[in-house]
Amino acid sequence: MKTTIIKITDAARDAAKIRQAAEVLKAGGLAALPTETVYGLAANALDEDAVMSIYRAKGRPADNPMIVHVASLEDIHPLVTDFPPEAERLAKRFWPGPLTMILPKTGAVPDVVSAKLPTVAIRMPSHPVFRAIVRECGLPLAAPSANVSGRPSPTNARHCIEDLNGKVDIIVDGGECEVGLESTVVSLCGEVPRLLRPGICSPEELLEILPDITVDPAVSARLAENAKPASPGMKYRHYAPNIKLVLVHGNRGEFTRFVKTKPAAGALVFDGEEKRVSVPCVTYGPADDPVRQANRLFSALRELDALGTAVVYARAPEQYGAGLAVYNRLLRAAGFEEIYL
Ligand code: TXA
Ligand code: MG
Repeated sequence: MKTTIIKITDAARDAAKIRQAAEVLKAGGLAALPTETVYGLAANALDEDAVMSIYRAKGRPADNPMIVHVASLEDIHPLVTDFPPEAERLAKRFWPGPLTMILPKTGAVPDVVSAKLPTVAIRMPSHPVFRAIVRECGLPLAAPSANVSGRPSPTNARHCIEDLNGKVDIIVDGGECEVGLESTVVSLCGEVPRLLRPGICSPEELLEILPDITVDPAVSARLAENAKPASPGMKYRHYAPNIKLVLVHGNRGEFTRFVKTKPAAGALVFDGEEKRVSVPCVTYGPADDPVRQANRLFSALRELDALGTAVVYARAPEQYGAGLAVYNRLLRAAGFEEIYL
């Protein structure tokens, strides 16, 4: 398949290109699109064949459901049987933006989208190019992150091209993603709201709106072999560079000394620490700024492959605020391998 690549810098001025991307989606095609979190691989959520082709292009396991993206609250009514007061409050505070809600689905949502679950994940992104395209095509869009399954999520068009060139109809280059990590996922289908995937909307912020929210145990730990995850995506090794990654807990001095004993390794460290470590390394933001770490993480994970070492030791982040999301992604990238110094 020949993949068309177009660049849209201003959604209002590039109306013809917005229409071009919308036409691909209306015709049942696949489009990699920018959102404020990461790039998404989008198709018409109501067209089963189109959604099936997303699974094929990504090599995604069929039991991992997808998020349905909309432009406005009215678009959600046909998709869910209930929009509880908690959802209203979350929407008011975080939408459009990097938050996804799990809600009970109607029959309008095909089983391929929800992987046969009785629920559907809904998000309203804020990226102006994405919003313009959803509006123009007038369809809810199923979109997982636009990477080959298991690879780090794409935060710019170059990453999408690396993973999906020749496998999708169009890639829309809308620049670097502002957030850089996938949306926060909250389920509103249980007795109390539950955080399934941390993101830039932090647990502390969510608590202000949902005082009884609980954090799913799979956020910070590996699930038992036979456990059924609340969010199927949580069980896979994910976001992974091609080389082996190990997450190392300890302070700067401890980490520097540890790496000295591993001369053949590489390191993933915070900004400024590259001068202290004696091995090849990549940086992922300031030690005290989880929002900037979130922004850099997926690019940094892709850069690790170029270090050429067999193993890379990563400095573990603090787990407060957006740091919990950074930790959650690094833990999966490391296949849950951690060392405490
Ligand atoms: O920021 C994002 O959320 C990006 C952009 C493109 O919107 N999308 C994204 O999609 O990260 P994906 O497919 O890579 O991750 C969706 C996560 C998966 O872990 C999946 O298992 C979970 O959401 N999920 C989707 N539907 C669900 C459902 N009905 N119940 C529980 N978890 C669900
Ligand atoms: Mg993904």
